[in-house]
Amino acid sequence: MSKSTAGRDIAPAEGRLGVLLVGLGAVSTTVIAGVESVRRGLSLPIGSITQMNTIRLGKRTEARAPLVRDFVPLVGLDEIVFGAWDPIPDDAYQSARSCGVLKPEDLEPIADFMKSIKPMSAAFDKAYVKKLDGTNVKTGKTKMDLAEQLREDIRRFKAENGCDRLVMVWAASTEIFLTRQPVHETVESLERGMRENDQGIAPSMLYAYAALQEGVPFANGAPNLTVDIPAMLELARQKEMPIGGKDFKTGQTLMKTILAPGLKARMLGLNGWFSTNILGNRDGEVLDDPESFKTKEESKLGVLEYILQPKMYPELYGDMYHKVRINYYPPRGDNKEGWDNIDIFGWMGYPMQIKIDFLCRDSILAAPIVLDLALFMDLAQRAGMHGVQEWLSFYFKSPQTPPGLYPEHDIFIQHTKLKNTLRWMMGEEQITHLGNEYYDE
Ligand SMILES: NC(=O)c1ccc[n+]([C@@H]2O[C@H](COP(=O)([O-])OP(=O)(O)OC[C@H]3O[C@@H](n4cnc5c(N)ncnc54)[C@H](O)[C@@H]3O)[C@@H](O)[C@H]2O)c1
Repeated sequence: MSKSTAGRDIAPAEGRLGVLLVGLGAVSTTVIAGVESVRRGLSLPIGSITQMNTIRLGKRTEARAPLVRDFVPLVGLDEIVFGAWDPIPDDAYQSARSCGVLKPEDLEPIADFMKSIKPMSAAFDKAYVKKLDGTNVKTGKTKMDLAEQLREDIRRFKAENGCDRLVMVWAASTEIFLTRQPVHETVESLERGMRENDQGIAPSMLYAYAALQEGVPFANGAPNLTVDIPAMLELARQKEMPIGGKDFKTGQTLMKTILAPGLKARMLGLNGWFSTNILGNRDGEVLDDPESFKTKEESKLGVLEYILQPKMYPELYGDMYHKVRINYYPPRGDNKEGWDNIDIFGWMGYPMQIKIDFLCRDSILAAPIVLDLALFMDLAQRAGMHGVQEWLSFYFKSPQTPPGLYPEHDIFIQHTKLKNTLRWMMGEEQITHLGNEYYDE
C-alpha cells in the first residue's frame, strides 16, 4: 500500500454545517430540494463528485477506489442545515414552484421542509441588479450598516440552528459589471468605502465581507467581482478563510471546456465558435440587462483563450472568432437551449463543422456544484487551507487564481487537480498516469 506524504492535519467533520445561500431562486431551491430528497431516499445525488464519485488510490493493481465521501472527512448530508437571504419574501417551496425547475410531484413530498426555509431580508440594491424588485430588503444608512446586519444574521442563524460551522455560497442574481477600483485594494479602503457608500462596492461584497469577518468560507457562483479583489484576499488571509469563484460551470461553458481540450489535443484548428442561448427564467431576465450580461459575457469568453493558447499556436487558433449570446425567451423557463456552431479545420486546412444543440436544465446542472462547493469549502477550512481554492476550479466558469497565475479551464486538468489535491490532503501518492512500473521486471 502506498502512502507518500504525511497529509494535512484535518479537523474532523463533527457537528452540523450551516449552508447559507445568498439568493433563494432556481439554483438554491433546486439544491435544497435535492438534498432533502436524497436524505429521504427519494433521489440520487447525480452530478455530485462528493456523493457519487470514487477516487483511485495507489497503483492500479491495488484496487483501492473508495467513494470521495468515504476517503476525505466530509459532513454527511443529514448534518446540513440550509439558510438563505432573498429580497423576494417567498419561502423555498413557493420560490421553487414559481421557478418551475422541479415538478410538483417532486416538491409535494418535501413541501413541509421547503416551506420551513424562509429567506432572511437581503442586502439588496436595485442599482446593481436592474431588472429585479424586492420587498424583503434591509435598510441602513451605510453599506457598513448592512454588512453589520448580515453579520448578525449569520450569528443568529448559527446559534438558532446549533451549527458548528458555516459556509456561504452566492447563488443570487448576476450584478452589473464592475471593474477593480482603488476602493477594492485593501481591507482598510474597502471598509472606508463601505462607510462612505462607495459605488464600487456591490451587495455581493457585503455578504462576502460579513462571511469572512464571521469566519465563514465564501464561494461565488455568479460572475460578479465579489471576492476577486485584493481586499477580500487580504481579509481571507487575515481570517484564515477559504474563498473561491466564480460563476458555476454549467450548460454551454461546461460543454466548451469538455470539447475544446479534445480539439486541441488532436491539434485541430479552430476558426470560430458561435454560442447562443435562449432561456426564460429570472436569471435570463436579469441577464437581459446589458450591464448584467456584460458581467456574464466576460466570464464566458475567457474559456477558449486559455484552453487553446492562440499565442502558442497561432496557425491553429490565432484567428478564431468567439461570440457568446444570451437571449431572454420566457416560454422556455429554466429549460435552456444552447446552440454552438464550431468551425474547425484539419489536415491541409480542410474545414469541418460541429453543431451542438444542448437542451439542458441549468439549475439541475448547478445544484450538485453548490453541494460539492459547500462540502469542499468546509473541508478546506478544517484542513487549514485559506485564500483562493484553485483546486475547486472544476466548478467554475471563470476560476479565481492568485495574482500572477492564469486560470486553468481544461475540465480534465481541473478534475485531476481536484482529485490530486484530495490525495495530497490525505497523504496519498499523486497519480501521474505514467505507469511504467507495471512493466518493470
Ligand atoms: N446553471 C445555472 O443556473 C447557473 C450557472 C452559472 C451561474 N449561475 C448564477 O447563479 C445565480 C443564480 O441563478 P438562478 O438561476 O438561481 O437565478 P434566480 O434569478 O432564479 O435566483 C436568484 C435569486 O437571487 C435573489 N437576489 C438578487 N440579489 C440579491 C441580493 N443582493 N441578496 C440576496 N438575494 C438576491 C433574487 O431575488 C433571486 O431570487 C445567477 O447569478 C446565475 O447567473 C447560475
